[in-house]
Amino acid sequence: MKIYELETNLVLSVNDLKAETEVTGLENIDVKEVMNLLSSGNYDSFDEVIVDENTPDSVLEKFSQEHLHEDDEVRYFLSGNCIFDVRGSKDQWIRIEVSSKDFITVPKNLYHRFFALNKQAKALRLFTSDKGWVPIYRV
Ligand SMILES: [Fe+2]
Repeated sequence: MKIYELETNLVLSVNDLKAETEVTGLENIDVKEVMNLLSSGNYDSFDEVIVDENTPDSVLEKFSQEHLHEDDEVRYFLSGNCIFDVRGSKDQWIRIEVSSKDFITVPKNLYHRFFALNKQAKALRLFTSDKGWVPIYRV
């Protein structure tokens, strides 16, 4: 997981990221730990999302437009190289490069956008409820 301010290239640690944005980033997490989390009762359900060459550009554009949710966005990456950009306290973009075995929680009400590089990604999505899972786009 590589974290930096997009405009200044200032490198941040996962602790810096947490302090600045409340985003939690965990590295080198085993899928068994994710399954344990799922059975802990903190999450209602999960599914697997796959981005590949058959994924329509219109779907990827929905991910890559700045938006927020009324629920946390929780992802565990199984493969691929992806980017989350999240807004910092001064509205600056903070870029988070994620890959296999990274686990990330983007808190509710934080503007962000997502890119799957090379149109290749596989991730588990963990949901605390389905009602918060609507993107609210920034205008
Ligand atoms: Fe999102």
